[in-house]
Amino acid sequence: MAERLTTIRRAVPGDAAVLAELGARTFREAFEADNKPEDMALYLASSYGPDHQTAELRNAGIVTLLAEAESRLAGYSQLRDGPAPDCVDGPRPIELWRFYVGRAWQGHGVAQRLMAATIEAAGARGAGTVWLSVWERNLRAQAFYRKSGFEDRGEKAFILGNDRQTDRVMALAL
Ligand SMILES: CC(C)(COP(=O)(O)OP(=O)(O)OC[C@H]1O[C@@H](n2cnc3c(N)ncnc32)[C@H](O)[C@@H]1OP(=O)(O)O)[C@@H](O)C(=O)NCCC(=O)NCCS
Repeated sequence: MAERLTTIRRAVPGDAAVLAELGARTFREAFEADNKPEDMALYLASSYGPDHQTAELRNAGIVTLLAEAESRLAGYSQLRDGPAPDCVDGPRPIELWRFYVGRAWQGHGVAQRLMAATIEAAGARGAGTVWLSVWERNLRAQAFYRKSGFEDRGEKAFILGNDRQTDRVMALAL
């Protein structure tokens, strides 16, 4: 499919409401078919909403990028400072915490543009390694991350509501 015109920009605190809507919507699109409604509801309530995203956008340890395609919000990514799991052994690690493209924009190159800008932002922040965790059942995302240069490093638990799941941990050396 044709590549859409995509621009990437740093989110600011005034973007909290649109980021909250985009974050909840893309999480639901990606995972509601394969999870229990009560686990989804618990996780969504604990992670998305204007107050959550306002705090994230004011947190100096989090970098949020927004992808706009044809002047509409199409996706977002968030880098987060903090410790990496033991299976990530590269220097100066930073976490690619969230990476989501709206369903309508998947397969159109938006994800590639957003990833390039996210990796550039990680490098500009002084990182030497970008790591992430991705649900073991999310094969499309794993394929995308492999195409982007990430390699499997191990696994890590993820709690969705009351469900303990297994994530793959992947890392990219910058
Ligand atoms: C993960 C994501 C960012 C990738 O962006 P995208 O635009 O879909 O990426 P692509 O179209 O390049 O697909 C990536 C690869 O997945 C594979 N793929 C495509 N459709 C697939 C499907 N239905 N099932 C499994 N793999 C699939 C292909 O190998 C594809 O690469 P190729 O077409 O060059 O061979 C996007 O799908 C997304 O936001 N998904 C929902 C949210 C999510 O899962 N985020 C990651 C959380 S860790």
